[in-house]
Amino acid sequence: MKAFAQKPDVDLSIEFAGIRSPNPFWLASAPPTDKAYNVERAFEAGWGGVVWKTLGEDPAAVNVSSRYSAHFGKNREVLGFNNIELITDRSLATNLREITEVKKRWPDRALIVSLMVPCVEESWQAILPRVEATGADGIELNLGCPHGMPERGMGAAVGQNPDLIEQVTRWCKQYYSKPVIVKLTPNITDIRVAAQAALRGGADAVSLINTINSITSIDLDNMVAKPTVGSQSTHGGYCGAAVKPIAMNMVAEIARDPETQGLPICGIGGISNWRDAAEFAALGAGAMQVCTAAMLHGFRIVEEMQDGLARWMAEKGYRSLAEFSGKAVVNTTDWKYLDMNFQTIAHIDQDKCIQCGRCYIACEDTSHQSIAKLIDASGARRYEVIEEECVGCNLCQITCPVEDCISMVPQPSDKPYMSWNEDPRNPFRESVTATN
Ligand SMILES: Cc1cc2nc3c(=O)[nH]c(=O)nc-3n(C[C@H](O)[C@H](O)[C@H](O)COP(=O)(O)O)c2cc1C
Ligand code: SF4
Ligand code: SF4
Repeated sequence: MKAFAQKPDVDLSIEFAGIRSPNPFWLASAPPTDKAYNVERAFEAGWGGVVWKTLGEDPAAVNVSSRYSAHFGKNREVLGFNNIELITDRSLATNLREITEVKKRWPDRALIVSLMVPCVEESWQAILPRVEATGADGIELNLGCPHGMPERGMGAAVGQNPDLIEQVTRWCKQYYSKPVIVKLTPNITDIRVAAQAALRGGADAVSLINTINSITSIDLDNMVAKPTVGSQSTHGGYCGAAVKPIAMNMVAEIARDPETQGLPICGIGGISNWRDAAEFAALGAGAMQVCTAAMLHGFRIVEEMQDGLARWMAEKGYRSLAEFSGKAVVNTTDWKYLDMNFQTIAHIDQDKCIQCGRCYIACEDTSHQSIAKLIDASGARRYEVIEEECVGCNLCQITCPVEDCISMVPQPSDKPYMSWNEDPRNPFRESVTATN
């Protein structure tokens, strides 16, 4: 068995909604967790837990060919990944037998069973005792699969209806004794409504996000989207690095919501390295799940995740995930509470600058014309920020190809904090203040 990379005084183990795991890194329900062969190699590599590929009623689902597509960056790096796969295409009995065996062989790892059955009480009542008998640590309700299954009244069709979320969660709490994690769909206007419904139904935790409705590209010769099945296609579910910002916002929304305060959150979406995981934790996630990064790079990425997280925690003096989980939540607020008196200004480090001019073009054409292009007698270019004009939008820093060449420098101010609600420039200030 793989030794865990613990650093002195750092304990990566977690207890999430009553489920123990030697580290916070779980594989999400998907092909990497489809069978005992995969799951056991994942455990060998060091994953703290897995959510088994979603089980359903027999007969098992049937998949099409082909199934995946990607949104590529300029250098063919996969920015986002798209799939049109359904839930497991193996029989329920085979999956349940393998889950039972794997849990016996790996008692210290978290083994969660993902489930999706029709939205009727009898179906849940029938499957839950069979799942309980496997000895798995908990279940995760797949209320988010956005393709294929919603057409059959399952997956996102349930996750988009708060009443159904609450009802299904309640059945699970009634017929299953261990923790119930409700996995939410991002294909919804306000994620808080779904989390509140899960909590009302008795959920022990929520996990998010499942995949986002997507079409990644079109084959312009054949006029069909990818992945292509014969001469047709359908929308898929988007995941991978590109969805991380969307997932993090949704995690933060739930963590900030007074109605769901304290509800354990398992973060999913674009997590590819220890830093992504730490960021999700900072926004309130108590465990993290990974799918696309493992599909693209293999199970061994968990070594960097454990090692990197443990090193960073040791450096910061955090002994456990709980010590920093949620620390960024209090600093995430509504726009109206931001400090209108805060000012930051771009600064160019001339020693690092390679005079490419990207910052100048960006600011000149689309921002605030706050960078001067100076040319000396020898024809050498030099770019300087016109500080009085700079509004601190960050665009030049984002555009600059040289790391740390442009820094944003907060300006000293003797003005006190002032929200938009207090700002004299706010035409509705009085009425806003009066109603607050
Ligand atoms: C090929 C593929 C199959 C998936 N199958 C399932 C599934 O059966 N059940 C489920 O809850 N989520 C499924 N997902 C969604 C993932 O569990 C995860 O929520 C999503 O991919 C976001 O995480 P990521 O950005 O790390 O990939 C699947 C994702 C992919 C790419
Ligand atoms: S921060 Fe914005 S306004 Fe200021 S120099 Fe950069 S691009 Fe221009
Ligand atoms: S983008 Fe960066 S490297 Fe290029 S000119 Fe501006 S500051 Fe210099």
